[in-house]
Amino acid sequence: MSLVGRHLELEALRACIAVGRHVLLEGPVGVGKTALARSVCAEAARGFVRVDGDGRYSEARLVGQFDPPMVLQHGYRAESFIDGPLLRAMREGAVLFINELNRMPEGVQNVLLPAMDEGMIVVPMLGEVRASPGFGVIATQNPGEFVATGALSEALLDRFELVRLDHAEEAEEREIVRLNCYGAPDAALIEGAVALVRATRSDPRIRRGASVRAAIAIADLAAHLARTAESLDDALFRAAALALPHRVELADPHNVRLATVLDDLRKKGTGARAGR
Ligand SMILES: Nc1ncnc2c1ncn2[C@@H]1O[C@H](COP(=O)(O)OP(=O)(O)OP(=O)(O)O)[C@@H](O)[C@H]1O
Ligand SMILES: [Mg+2]
Repeated sequence: MSLVGRHLELEALRACIAVGRHVLLEGPVGVGKTALARSVCAEAARGFVRVDGDGRYSEARLVGQFDPPMVLQHGYRAESFIDGPLLRAMREGAVLFINELNRMPEGVQNVLLPAMDEGMIVVPMLGEVRASPGFGVIATQNPGEFVATGALSEALLDRFELVRLDHAEEAEEREIVRLNCYGAPDAALIEGAVALVRATRSDPRIRRGASVRAAIAIADLAAHLARTAESLDDALFRAAALALPHRVELADPHNVRLATVLDDLRKKGTGARAGR
């Protein structure tokens, strides 16, 4: 998958990787954090070991653990140990990509500290493991989530460089949608889907708008619905009703419904090129 745009961010990530720095990618859901990290690792021919953070993630899952039957047979030896993603990335000199690091329990986050600045970790009964050249961490966090999940500790933040991402420009979002669609929707539908999703980000009645992921879904669904819909515009707004309600957060959900906002957008002609 080729990456659209993001030249400055790519350059920043390349620099970090080249000089052995770790990167914290911060940006809203669906902005392209994973796509950017994958792209820079592929370009640098760096291995990519992925971990998805959640509140129940354990230290043993991240580092690895002894396999009980192997321990019974061979004792606490290196061959009895099953590497977790951290040890695998360290040994392979790969990039450990941690999605939503801030959702991991603090104890698990702390395991990363020596690995990140000394390139080593001490595992009980196994001993010291040193990172091969090339090892690095790229982690993500979504801003504005910290109330529910907790922020990263100062010590951990101090080991990262920060790269912030915001939604791409309109022309780039159209290209992203075109490249990521299941089928090959009409250009007018792609344009309409992107215009509609961007409108959710600027409408004052919506607190948190949708990402390009929603535009991809709308364009794909609309292309299918268009077979029976009265017009492309009709297909577009029917697709939007499937793709948007759970992806946007209304500012005042008790008084304004998303359907009303979508009706207004339709009346204003947002996405209207699809109607021609
Ligand atoms: N610059 C880009 N070039 C190509 N595709 C992109 C780009 N940005 C985003 N995408 C596509 O948009 C979708 C969402 O991007 P991605 O999964 O990288 O977002 P994310 O920020 O990691 O989201 P989340 O916060 O949910 O993890 C994916 O299908 C991805 O391929
Ligand atoms: Mg992601």
